Formats: sequence, structure tokens, C-alpha cells
Amino acid sequence: MTIIASLLRAADLPDSPTARLDAELLLAAALGKSRSFLHTWPERIVPSEAALTFAEYLQRRRGGEPVAYILGQQGFWKLDLEVAPHTLIPRPDTELLVEAALELLPATPAKVLDLGTGSGAIALALASERPAWKVTAVDRVLEAVALAERNRQRLHLNNATVLSSHWFSALEGQRFELIISNPPYIAAADPHLVEGDVRFEPASALVAGVDGSTICG
Ligand SMILES: C[S@@+](CC[C@H](N)C(=O)[O-])C[C@H]1O[C@@H](n2cnc3c(N)ncnc32)[C@H](O)[C@@H]1O
Repeated sequence: MTIIASLLRAADLPDSPTARLDAELLLAAALGKSRSFLHTWPERIVPSEAALTFAEYLQRRRGGEPVAYILGQQGFWKLDLEVAPHTLIPRPDTELLVEAALELLPATPAKVLDLGTGSGAIALALASERPAWKVTAVDRVLEAVALAERNRQRLHLNNATVLSSHWFSALEGQRFELIISNPPYIAAADPHLVEGDVRFEPASALVAGVDGSTICG
């Protein structure tokens, strides 16, 4: 039998600025509790099933898999999003794009488009902040479309619509007051693609041709 504090001490993840946070997120998920539970009850015994799940999570993390893919979720803006390896894990930097978009238009009715929505992060954050806006979210990858739609439904964001589309292809004749996008923009041979967490994310979400600026393929 092991207690929370000892399991965290023994987690032995590769040295990184997020190693302790990663271990806490994985143990909290294995226990079905919040991180604050771990801090409040460090002497609690971890049931053997949760300890086994934690060990399995740690093994995957040691292999480099991002915590968000291991847990299948990631916080973005004020939303908890399901995430999956078919698309990008939403980044904190992208919240700046949401902030900028919110400042560009008043909170009155408007049609807004998110091109390359992935998990739906930008579109759903905007839809949650601006109930009067009608937000359309498109992605070319069908699994990403399904993922964004599951997030939309779970968050009850009925002012958002998720569509399969190669950029504007399914939007003929539609007009938008605001178009926002965090498209793929990395060059195919960029060495960062084979490093760290990014190794696990799909080329379809990251790579834009030889020089990182070809997004029409
Ligand atoms: C960098 S990811 C951004 C995902 C999400 N917007 C975010 O910020 O977390 C780019 C997204 O664009 C999508 N994409 C790539 N090419 C596309 C295309 N031709 N048409 C529509 N979406 C595309 C990818 O599938 C991926 O989900």
C-alpha cells in the first residue's frame, strides 16, 4: 500500500519543467480526483487499481506521449476540451487569438468562421463568450470534425456549427464578419517536428508544405 506523497516522489519522469505537474495530473486522473485533493490529502492510501493506472500513465509519459493525449483532455480558455491525436493539442498561446477576436467585434449578432478548428478550441471559446455570435468551425480531417462536434455538444454551444471543409470549399456563398485561423505553418523538414510532445501530433495539424507557408495542398 502506498500513499499519494510517496507515489508522487517516486514518479521518476524525465527532468523537465513540467515533470511534477505532469505526475500530479496523471495521479489525480488515475484517482478520479482533482490536483488539490493530492495536496490536501498527501497521506491518503492510493487504491491498487489507481496505482496501476498511474504506473501505466507514467510509462506512456516516459515514452514522450503528451499528458493531454494520455488523459484525452486539455483545458483551453474556460473550457475542458476532449483532445485526440487526430489534431493539435490547443496551446495557451492560442488564447491570445481568442482575446484579440473578442476585441474586434461587439457582442451583437455576427457570423464568425474558424478555419482549421481541430478540437474546436477557438470556435467554442468564442461561442461560449459571445452567445449572439453564430460561429462556424471547419476542418478537413474528419476525425477532428467529429471531435470538435463532440466538444460542441458536451458544452451545449448551440450557437456553433462544425463542418467538414477544405478551407472554404463547403462555405460557398457564405459571408462572415470575422474569420480566424490557427493554421498549420511548420516547414516539412523542421527538426522540431521530431522532438518532444510535437512528435505525437499529426502532420495534418502542423505541416504546411516545404517552407511552412503552403496551405492549399
Ligand atoms: C494548427 S492546427 C489548429 C487547431 C485548432 N484551431 C487550435 O488552435 O488548437 C490546424 C488545423 O487545421 C486543420 N487543417 C489543415 N489543413 C486544412 C484544410 N485544408 N482545410 C481545413 N482544415 C485544415 C488541421 O486538421 C488542424 O486541425
